[in-house]
Amino acid sequence: MTHYETIETSTPDGGVGLIRLNRPKALNALSLTVMRELTHAAAEFDDDAEIGAIVISGSERAFAAGADISEMAALDYPDVVQADLLAGWEDLAQVRTPLIAAVCGYALGGGCELAMLCDLLIASDTAVFGQPEIKLGIIPGMGGSQRLTRAVGKAKAMDLCLTGRTMPVEEAERAGLVSRVVPADQLLDEAIEAGRTIAAMSRSAAMAAKEAVNRALETTLSEGVRFERKLFHAAFASLDQKEGMSAFLEKRTPVFGGG
Ligand code: HXC
Repeated sequence: MTHYETIETSTPDGGVGLIRLNRPKALNALSLTVMRELTHAAAEFDDDAEIGAIVISGSERAFAAGADISEMAALDYPDVVQADLLAGWEDLAQVRTPLIAAVCGYALGGGCELAMLCDLLIASDTAVFGQPEIKLGIIPGMGGSQRLTRAVGKAKAMDLCLTGRTMPVEEAERAGLVSRVVPADQLLDEAIEAGRTIAAMSRSAAMAAKEAVNRALETTLSEGVRFERKLFHAAFASLDQKEGMSAFLEKRTPVFGGG
């Protein structure tokens, strides 16, 4: 397994890849090295046939407190344009394996955006979300203004992006930002268990489900429904469809082989 400086990777059993942000002193601020390492690790898990779900977690205090301000402070406009600063995070959106964010503590700025880049967002009862970039004289840059608005609607997205206030987890759950809320000491187990559940499904069906739901954010209803139906029809070309339906009729647990 590759050695990383700012993250730790492991493979709990059951087809789950785990990526833990590991910059505790900086509250897991998302430096360029974190971006490089995290996207690399996610791509490696994505290529691994044994891995059916990827969990991304932080520490108890912070999932991530945003992009690394000390790294950005001295940058000028030409620097960020020429480097296309933060564009590398989009690589994570290309990962086809379902991504689960396990969010404990602060998920601010880029941290909130990283969580929203994931497919399932499981949060602890101590989680706090926000897009405080405006307080630094900037705006979200990892998709926050777009994904937050799609997730919670204009009213709350405007409130968070314009005032920079934080949103406690209860409000985030009511607004539809998070999938589940659990006590902090159960967060990682819950996220890994969700990963195991997904990894036990047909890999191709899980990828198709992820693609179909994400398409809803990109297209019209009629196009989306047509797109879904094509993927639905394609599932009938898989051995997993035969296995899933036979197992149901034979009253046994399916064993999906990925074919
Ligand atoms: C660099 C950070 C950091 C960050 C915290 N630290 N957030 N370093 N970048 N985003 C560092 C602090 O400098 C400090 O280092 C240590 O982590 C602990 O932080 P404290 O502030 O001492 O902790 P606390 O008082 O508990 O406050 C926690 C906090 C606060 C509320 C989360 O740290 C905070 O407001 N952080 C910034 C949040 C933010 O504005 N995020 C948006 C970033 S911009 P030392 O060395 O002093 O101990 C962004 C752009 C998005 O994300 C664009 C796309 C990525």
